Amino acid sequence: MMDLVLPDKVHDESRQGEALVLEQPVTGKNNGRKLYIESYGCAMNFSDSEIVASILAEQGFETTGDHNMADVIFINTCSIRENAETRVRNRLKEFAITKVKNPGLVVGVLGCMAERLKSKFLEEEKLVDVVVGPDAYRDLPNLIDQVDSGQKAVNVLLSREETYADISPVRLNSNGINAFVSIMRGCDNMCSFCVVPFTRGRERSRDPQSIVAECTDLFDKGYREVTLLGQNVDSYKWKKSSESGVLSSELEAQTDQKVSSTGPNLGVADAPVTNFANLLEMVALINPDLRVRFSTSHPKDITDEVLYTIAKYDNICNYIHLPVQSGNTRILDLMNRTYDRDWYINRIDAIRRIIGDCAISTDVITGFCTETDEEHADTVSMMDYVKYDFAYMFKYSERPGTLAAKRYADDIPEEVKQKRLTEIVAKQQEYSYYRAQARIGKIEKVLIEGFSKKSKNDYCGRSDQNAMVIFPVADNYKPGQYVNVLIERTTTATLIGQVIPQTP
Ligand code: 5AD
Ligand code: SF4
Repeated sequence: MMDLVLPDKVHDESRQGEALVLEQPVTGKNNGRKLYIESYGCAMNFSDSEIVASILAEQGFETTGDHNMADVIFINTCSIRENAETRVRNRLKEFAITKVKNPGLVVGVLGCMAERLKSKFLEEEKLVDVVVGPDAYRDLPNLIDQVDSGQKAVNVLLSREETYADISPVRLNSNGINAFVSIMRGCDNMCSFCVVPFTRGRERSRDPQSIVAECTDLFDKGYREVTLLGQNVDSYKWKKSSESGVLSSELEAQTDQKVSSTGPNLGVADAPVTNFANLLEMVALINPDLRVRFSTSHPKDITDEVLYTIAKYDNICNYIHLPVQSGNTRILDLMNRTYDRDWYINRIDAIRRIIGDCAISTDVITGFCTETDEEHADTVSMMDYVKYDFAYMFKYSERPGTLAAKRYADDIPEEVKQKRLTEIVAKQQEYSYYRAQARIGKIEKVLIEGFSKKSKNDYCGRSDQNAMVIFPVADNYKPGQYVNVLIERTTTATLIGQVIPQTP
């Protein structure tokens, strides 16, 4: 499986399998046991690992970056494509060797693969002691106790309410500048190729006050960028009850039904609703020096109101990840994406009209069931139309239990999938370069994140449009600060330049 990975933290291929360690251990609590936690998949999974570490830190666990030193190894897994699962299986083989050396070691599988395979995991992988789905992390202390008493443990219950809103995540491997903040969980879209609705359950939004409180706390601690995370951020919705304070999105759905069948229920109908545009605004207002990013948007749901909010606030970054999946209407219909080619183009035009200078990235799947060469050509022509700044491209991988697996044959030969993928990867390289080149001579406001990967003589940071920018280190600026960088040259997707003095 080949996918082009471009500089976007939300889809950072270089972080796959990263061991996550806590910079500062939680003081005052120590049970003498060490947790090693490794994450795969999307940013939501990395963010979940921070919740898991927080729950276990409360129990007195310390984190370690060396699995040979661990008393508990957790692997937070992804099921999105077959190769994501293969990676995890291979990693478990390595942990089996560690377990031979340390028989008391607890090995746990968390996340999407745990949810998909449930107790089958225990049968298939003998070294696994505990299997925990994404909504059951509060139960981890009990589950570990169960394993300590000699049993295997499983909790894969999905919840309609759990948002972990009250758990303040510890920040793992943090640079102290950027943080992910989960604003909702689950997904109610039934894209026919996708396993997520089965592994992460129903969509539910988190109380906006808890989101704003978390982001404010991050800003006070010196963080300067938050990325609001959800499978479909545009369907974020929270209704506050006038009497009791808060109402979960689950209760809200029931109340909506009541309103329509029995006439207006004034208590609730009057209650203010927070949608994604409102939430963005609330977070942007925390401080103009706090950059706000978000992922992932859905073409069906992204509203002009959201676009106007992005345009209104300088600190909401001009960058939208808007997965197209296919440029062909028949394939989009088979994928159950609930928009067609024209609708998607209309949303792109709206972004260009309302925000103007906004970077756009996408996800594309090649070789979906029955896709013809002509239909694939529509995806290529969509790329020509949008000229995406970045793209994540994948061959279709049939996932057990999905609508597509049930309804359609995975009938496109591997070589054809690969040929189409190679073609669009080459096309995207051209457009990434084209977009990067267009920045030459421009001044980019960059939030410095740290040293560049290649040299301690250079800093790196991101532009508002999410491009990676490299420039020389100097004494008068440091990580966490904003600088203006004049772009002089580029690679395919990285901008290179010099800091220029701040204009008053
Ligand atoms: N096969 C290939 N790619 C997939 N994606 C999701 N499910 C599959 C699948 N079964 C891709 C989509 C999605 C991204 C996160 O992963 O492009 O937007
Ligand atoms: Fe994230 Fe989806 Fe992978 Fe789960 S299956 S970790 S939701 S990308």
